[in-house]
Amino acid sequence: MIAIGSDHGGFALKREIMKYLDEKGLEYKDFGTYTEDSCDYPDYGEAVGRAVAGGECERGIVICGTGIGISISANKVKGVRAALCGDCYSAEYTRRHNDANVLALGARVLGTGLALKIVEIFLGTDFEGGRHARRVELISKIEERN
Ligand code: RB5
Repeated sequence: MIAIGSDHGGFALKREIMKYLDEKGLEYKDFGTYTEDSCDYPDYGEAVGRAVAGGECERGIVICGTGIGISISANKVKGVRAALCGDCYSAEYTRRHNDANVLALGARVLGTGLALKIVEIFLGTDFEGGRHARRVELISKIEERN
Protein backbone atom coordinates (compact mmCIF):
# COMPACT_ATOMS: atom_id res chain seq x y z
CA MET A 1 0.00 0.00 0.00
CA ILE A 2 1.29 3.43 -0.98
CA ALA A 3 0.35 6.53 1.01
CA ILE A 4 -0.08 9.64 -1.11
CA GLY A 5 -0.75 13.23 -0.12
CA SER A 6 -0.39 16.78 -1.37
CA ASP A 7 -1.36 20.35 -0.72
CA HIS A 8 -3.24 22.45 -3.30
CA GLY A 9 0.02 23.09 -5.19
CA GLY A 10 0.50 19.36 -5.73
CA PHE A 11 -3.14 18.42 -6.19
CA ALA A 12 -3.17 18.16 -10.01
CA LEU A 13 0.06 16.11 -10.10
CA LYS A 14 -1.25 13.87 -7.32
CA ARG A 15 -4.24 13.04 -9.53
CA GLU A 16 -1.91 12.15 -12.41
CA ILE A 17 0.11 9.91 -10.11
CA MET A 18 -3.03 8.19 -8.79
CA LYS A 19 -4.11 7.58 -12.39
CA TYR A 20 -0.68 6.03 -13.07
CA LEU A 21 -0.94 3.83 -9.95
CA ASP A 22 -4.43 2.72 -11.04
CA GLU A 23 -3.08 1.76 -14.47
CA LYS A 24 -0.28 -0.25 -12.83
CA GLY A 25 -2.72 -1.92 -10.43
CA LEU A 26 -0.84 -0.53 -7.41
CA GLU A 27 -2.90 0.11 -4.28
CA TYR A 28 -2.76 3.48 -2.59
CA LYS A 29 -4.46 5.49 0.10
CA ASP A 30 -5.08 9.18 -0.55
CA PHE A 31 -4.50 11.30 2.56
CA GLY A 32 -5.69 14.50 0.87
CA THR A 33 -5.98 17.27 0.06
CA TYR A 34 -9.15 16.56 -1.86
CA THR A 35 -9.78 19.93 -3.54
CA GLU A 36 -7.76 22.73 -5.13
CA ASP A 37 -8.57 25.08 -2.25
CA SER A 38 -5.57 26.56 -0.49
CA CYS A 39 -4.39 24.44 2.44
CA ASP A 40 -1.32 23.78 4.60
CA TYR A 41 1.27 21.28 3.36
CA PRO A 42 2.53 20.23 6.84
CA ASP A 43 -0.81 18.49 7.54
CA TYR A 44 -0.41 16.19 4.53
CA GLY A 45 3.30 15.59 5.00
CA GLU A 46 2.64 14.47 8.55
CA ALA A 47 -0.35 12.28 7.59
CA VAL A 48 1.62 10.41 4.92
CA GLY A 49 4.68 10.21 7.17
CA ARG A 50 2.67 8.69 10.01
CA ALA A 51 1.08 6.12 7.68
CA VAL A 52 4.54 4.99 6.52
CA ALA A 53 6.33 5.17 9.88
CA GLY A 54 3.42 3.36 11.57
CA GLY A 55 3.49 0.51 9.06
CA GLU A 56 0.05 1.10 7.51
CA CYS A 57 1.76 1.83 4.18
CA GLU A 58 5.13 0.61 2.86
CA ARG A 59 5.98 3.75 0.89
CA GLY A 60 4.73 7.30 0.64
CA ILE A 61 4.54 9.99 -2.01
CA VAL A 62 4.12 13.65 -1.02
CA ILE A 63 3.71 16.59 -3.37
CA CYS A 64 3.59 20.35 -2.95
CA GLY A 65 4.58 23.24 -5.19
CA THR A 66 8.32 22.83 -4.71
CA GLY A 67 8.26 19.53 -2.83
CA ILE A 68 10.35 21.20 -0.15
CA GLY A 69 7.82 22.14 2.53
CA ILE A 70 6.05 18.81 2.42
CA SER A 71 9.32 16.83 2.48
CA ILE A 72 10.55 18.80 5.50
CA SER A 73 7.21 18.08 7.19
CA ALA A 74 7.23 14.35 6.44
CA ASN A 75 10.81 14.11 7.68
CA LYS A 76 9.72 15.39 11.11
CA VAL A 77 7.94 12.06 11.67
CA LYS A 78 10.28 9.61 13.36
CA GLY A 79 11.18 6.76 11.01
CA VAL A 80 10.52 8.71 7.82
CA ARG A 81 13.26 9.14 5.25
CA ALA A 82 11.68 11.46 2.71
CA ALA A 83 13.71 12.30 -0.40
CA LEU A 84 12.91 15.24 -2.65
CA CYS A 85 13.74 14.05 -6.17
CA GLY A 86 13.82 16.03 -9.38
CA ASP A 87 15.72 13.52 -11.50
CA CYS A 88 15.83 9.79 -12.21
CA TYR A 89 19.32 9.20 -10.79
CA SER A 90 18.37 10.60 -7.39
CA ALA A 91 15.17 8.53 -7.34
CA GLU A 92 17.15 5.35 -8.01
CA TYR A 93 19.96 6.03 -5.55
CA THR A 94 17.83 7.29 -2.71
CA ARG A 95 16.22 3.83 -2.75
CA ARG A 96 19.47 1.91 -3.28
CA HIS A 97 21.54 3.81 -0.73
CA ASN A 98 19.21 5.67 1.67
CA ASP A 99 16.27 3.25 1.77
CA ALA A 100 14.07 6.34 1.39
CA ASN A 101 10.51 5.42 2.31
CA VAL A 102 8.81 8.62 1.14
CA LEU A 103 9.25 10.33 -2.23
CA ALA A 104 8.69 14.09 -2.37
CA LEU A 105 7.95 15.87 -5.66
CA GLY A 106 7.64 19.51 -6.65
CA ALA A 107 4.62 19.90 -8.91
CA ARG A 108 5.61 23.42 -9.99
CA VAL A 109 9.12 22.26 -10.79
CA LEU A 110 8.60 19.03 -12.73
CA GLY A 111 6.69 18.10 -15.85
CA THR A 112 4.21 15.26 -15.45
CA GLY A 113 6.21 12.86 -17.62
CA LEU A 114 9.37 13.22 -15.56
CA ALA A 115 7.42 13.04 -12.30
CA LEU A 116 5.81 9.74 -13.33
CA LYS A 117 9.18 8.31 -14.37
CA ILE A 118 10.62 9.28 -10.97
CA VAL A 119 7.66 7.54 -9.27
CA GLU A 120 8.21 4.41 -11.39
CA ILE A 121 11.90 4.27 -10.45
CA PHE A 122 11.30 5.02 -6.78
CA LEU A 123 8.69 2.26 -6.46
CA GLY A 124 10.68 -0.24 -8.54
CA THR A 125 14.11 0.01 -6.90
CA ASP A 126 15.28 -2.03 -3.90
CA PHE A 127 17.56 -1.00 -1.04
CA GLU A 128 21.06 -2.46 -1.42
CA GLY A 129 21.70 -2.95 2.30
CA GLY A 130 25.29 -3.80 3.25
CA ARG A 131 27.35 -0.73 4.15
CA HIS A 132 24.33 1.44 3.39
CA ALA A 133 22.30 -0.27 6.12
CA ARG A 134 24.86 0.90 8.69
CA ARG A 135 24.54 4.47 7.42
CA VAL A 136 20.74 4.36 7.53
CA GLU A 137 21.06 3.03 11.08
CA LEU A 138 23.22 6.06 11.89
CA ILE A 139 20.41 8.30 10.61
CA SER A 140 18.01 6.60 13.05
CA LYS A 141 20.47 7.24 15.86
CA ILE A 142 20.33 10.97 15.09
CA GLU A 143 16.57 10.75 15.69
CA GLU A 144 17.17 9.03 19.02
CA ARG A 145 19.63 11.71 20.15
CA ASN A 146 17.53 14.74 19.21
C1 RB5 B 1 2.00 26.73 -1.60
O1 RB5 B 1 1.79 27.95 -2.25
C2 RB5 B 1 3.48 26.39 -1.59
O2 RB5 B 1 4.13 27.21 -0.67
C3 RB5 B 1 3.68 24.94 -1.25
O3 RB5 B 1 3.02 24.15 -2.19
C4 RB5 B 1 5.12 24.45 -1.25
O4 RB5 B 1 5.79 24.81 -2.39
C5 RB5 B 1 5.88 24.70 -0.02
O5 RB5 B 1 7.02 24.26 0.16
